Parts: sequence; C-alpha cells; structure tokens
Amino acid sequence: LVIILDFGGQYTQLIARRVRECRVYCEIMPYSTPVEALRARRPRGIILSGGPSSVYEEGAPVLPAAFFETGIPVLGICYGMQLMAHLLGGNVAAAAHREYGRTLLEVLADGDLFAGVARRTEVWMSHGDKVAAPPPGFVVTARTEAAPVAAMADPARRLYAVQFHPEVAHTPEGKKMLENFLYRVCGCTGAWTMGSFLQAAVAEVRATIGAGRAICALSGGVDSAVAAALVHRAIGDRLTSVFVNHGLLRQGEPESVQEAFRHLGIPLVYVEAKERFLQKLAGVADPEAKRKIIGTEFIRVFEEEARRLGGADFLVQGTLYPDVVESGTATAAKIKSHHNVGGLPEDLQFKLVEPLRWLFKDEVRELGKELGLPEEIVWRQPFPGPGLAVRILGPVTEEKLALLRAADAIVTEEVKRAGLDRQVWQYFAVLPDIRSVGVMGDARTYAHAIAVRAVESQDGMTADWARLPYAVLERIATRIVREVPGVNRVVYDITSKPPATIEWE
Ligand code: XMP
Repeated sequence: LVIILDFGGQYTQLIARRVRECRVYCEIMPYSTPVEALRARRPRGIILSGGPSSVYEEGAPVLPAAFFETGIPVLGICYGMQLMAHLLGGNVAAAAHREYGRTLLEVLADGDLFAGVARRTEVWMSHGDKVAAPPPGFVVTARTEAAPVAAMADPARRLYAVQFHPEVAHTPEGKKMLENFLYRVCGCTGAWTMGSFLQAAVAEVRATIGAGRAICALSGGVDSAVAAALVHRAIGDRLTSVFVNHGLLRQGEPESVQEAFRHLGIPLVYVEAKERFLQKLAGVADPEAKRKIIGTEFIRVFEEEARRLGGADFLVQGTLYPDVVESGTATAAKIKSHHNVGGLPEDLQFKLVEPLRWLFKDEVRELGKELGLPEEIVWRQPFPGPGLAVRILGPVTEEKLALLRAADAIVTEEVKRAGLDRQVWQYFAVLPDIRSVGVMGDARTYAHAIAVRAVESQDGMTADWARLPYAVLERIATRIVREVPGVNRVVYDITSKPPATIEWE
C-alpha cells in the first residue's frame, strides 16, 4: 500500500491513477489523517499531493512534526515539496509570479528518483511559491531556469520532493520518476493485479456479509454488473440481482443484460415495469420532476421486489472511487451512490456493500474481464439511471421512445463501425422538443430533429465534445433521416462540460 495525502490538488486523483498503473495499490487520504492512523496501515510510502495553498497562508494545511519521523519514505509533489521544505527548516520563497506550463528540467544528481531519466527532460510546472533553499540534510537534485530547487532529496531519511508534476502527461518521464520512487525507494514490487484485487475483494465481501443475504439492482451498466458478478462469486445464490426494466432503456438492452447474466450463471430477477413508469411520466415536461418520478418509482419497485423475495440485509452498489473521493466523507459517498440507482432513501433498511469503491472506471472494466463478463458489458458506455427520459426533452411518450431508440442505435453502430467506441466516453442521440421544416421527395416535411452528442472524458465530471470525423457524422445524419420515420434533421452538439452537461436534462 502507498498512501497519497491530499492537500486539495487538482491532480491528486491522477497521482493515484499513475501509481496504480505502476501496479502498486494506493489510497488517497485527507492530509489531516493522524500519523498513528497512517502508520497503522503500514504503507510502503507516502506521496504528498499538490494543493492551492501557500505554506505562509493562515490556515494552510500542514502536517505534524512527527510525520517525517516515521521512517516511511515520502515523495512531496509541488505544495507537498514546499511543505516538506518549510517544516524541515528550508526556505520557501513567496511567489513573485506564477510559473505555469512546460519547462526544461536539468537533472543535477542521479539520486534514486532520476535513475534512467534524461539529464535534460521536459516537466510540467504549476506553482506560485517555490523552494529557495532546501532543509539541512537535503541536496538539490534538479533545477529549472525559474526554480533553482526544482527537486531535492535526503536519501538517508528517504525523503524526496519535486516542484513539478510527474503525474501529468506533459511530464513525459514522470511515470519513470514515480516508478523509481515506488520500486527503488519504497521497495514496491509492482505485483498488484486485478487478479489479486479480486481475491481480496471476494474475501472481504464474504467477511462482511457472513451468512446474510444481499440484493443488487442492475442497471445494465458496467459498474453494477461487475459489482453483482463479484458479490455472486463471494456468496453465490444468497445474492439476488434485480433488473428493473423501466421502459427507458436503449435498443436491445434488456435482452443483452439478461443474456450476459444467463451466460455467467447468475440468477436474475427481471421486473417488467414499463407501464408503471410511463403512466407516472405522462405529460411531465420538467427535467427535475421527471428525474424525481423515476427515482421514486424505482425505489418502490425495488422495495416491492425485495419484500417479495423475502428481504435482504445488504444492498450491493457499484459505487466507484471518484464518487467516494469527490464526496469526501463516508456519509456523502452514500448519497452519491444512491444516485446510481436513482436516489434511494436515506432511511433504507439495507446495509451497503460497495466492492468497487477503491477502483477507477478503467480498473472496473479490467475487473469485469477478470470475472468473465462479456466484452459487450465490459465496454458499455455510461448510461444515466433515468435512461432515455433525460434524452427526450419534454414529456416522454412511447412514440418518442421508439424514435429515439432507433436513432440512438444508428449512432452506436456508426461510432463502433468507425472503431471509435473505446475512445469516445459517450455517444448517443437526443430528441429535442422541436420540429423543423424540410424537403423530402419534392414534398415539404415538418418533423423532429435529432441531436447527436459525443464526448471525451476521464470520469464524466468534465468533458470535451468529441471531434468525430466528418465522414462518420455524415453517415449518422444520412442514415437517421433515411431510416427513422419522423426525423428530417440532425444536428451535432459541440459544447463541452462545463458550461453544458453531458446529458441534456
Ligand atoms: P451530466 O449530464 O451531469 O452527466 O454531465 C455526467 C455523467 O453522469 C451520467 N448521469 C447519470 N448517471 N444517474 C446515473 O447513474 C443519473 O441520474 C445520471 N445523470 C447523468 C451521464 O450519462 C454522464 O456520464
């Protein structure tokens, strides 16, 4: 285990991702975690993240003096370096101006961190303050034009620090430096694999659930499917997986989810609830009202099923690490995870089991493969709990659902055919509440428009519109207008998030 102490830096999660890419298991913890609690986890190393503060600011996050006396190797990054310098008796100069962007780093001492790294290498800087003089016992190991102490080390105490950001892609040799810290300094072996994670996770779920029973709501997405498969491996048929078809799913979705679970030998309770949902949604145009209706109705159906099945002690959720980190606290994480199944109530009668709460999305996909889930589920794009209802602007009707399903299937097919489905985060069709005039076969048409949305993203929190090739967009537009009756126009959404969101509602 390697611990990353978070000082509020924008790249903290990225550090965690890079460490895991080195096949070393890590967890992010708040900087305020007591030294005793850190020591109890017996980490092989600790990384101090960057952060927006200045060590001279009132209330700036600090560490207790005892922190550097544990003998655990430490790597300070950016603010982490300044803090290390400040606390150990070095000198940090307040910012005259910010240094931001790519810079050439000159490596002065081989050290452990820079073993195998070029003497002159590009790094990414983003800082105000900088270290002017290292603390006693430290040597300067690298410099840049603007930062005479761009890296420092005290190998005897196994303390290392860099002013730049090795975790970002703009530092091409950054991964090598992190590897050096993990393998050479901390003695990690890089043996952490999804196979070993799976074993540990299965054992943990068994210990948590004991002889109890669990229930899991499947959405058709990769997270809930992987969580269900993992818990099934742990407790077998004491897990009941429930798949509620709210009638707002994409083309072929109910069938493919059922098929995948049949294939895995995991029993699945299928609940047909289309009529219920559509009745409740009839005539409702407000986006939030639609979401609330779907969330509430989902709980009703789910609770009814749970009761019918003889109750359960645990609820399995596919909550991921970014949700946990973003929410910050255990309680907040629950609220967010409830959001996954459409807003479960706070007074829920279940205890939560969240076996994926340490994983990133790409790791969940790897775990899914390890569990034998089919590619089709493993590589599924994220899909919102309220389904197509938030992609049909205005009231939802059967006709609109059928039209959107057909258009969406074409978008999916063409993005896949172009081989872009694993690069693009999400790609789908939206049905706005408008009609426009067209001409088809010499006759005037007055019909629906379809908006195509495709975005690139790491985690859905921010997103950039995908630069799909014109040829792909053209095929999508031509096919939708030709093959989907009632549509005469296709537009492409070229806003990013922020200021827009990924979904239209
Ligand atoms: P937005 O539209 O907020 O979406 O940019 C961010 C990501 O979350 C997905 N999304 C949802 N997922 N329940 C979910 O499980 C929901 O209610 C929900 N709403 C949006 C969306 O598809 C995107 O990936």
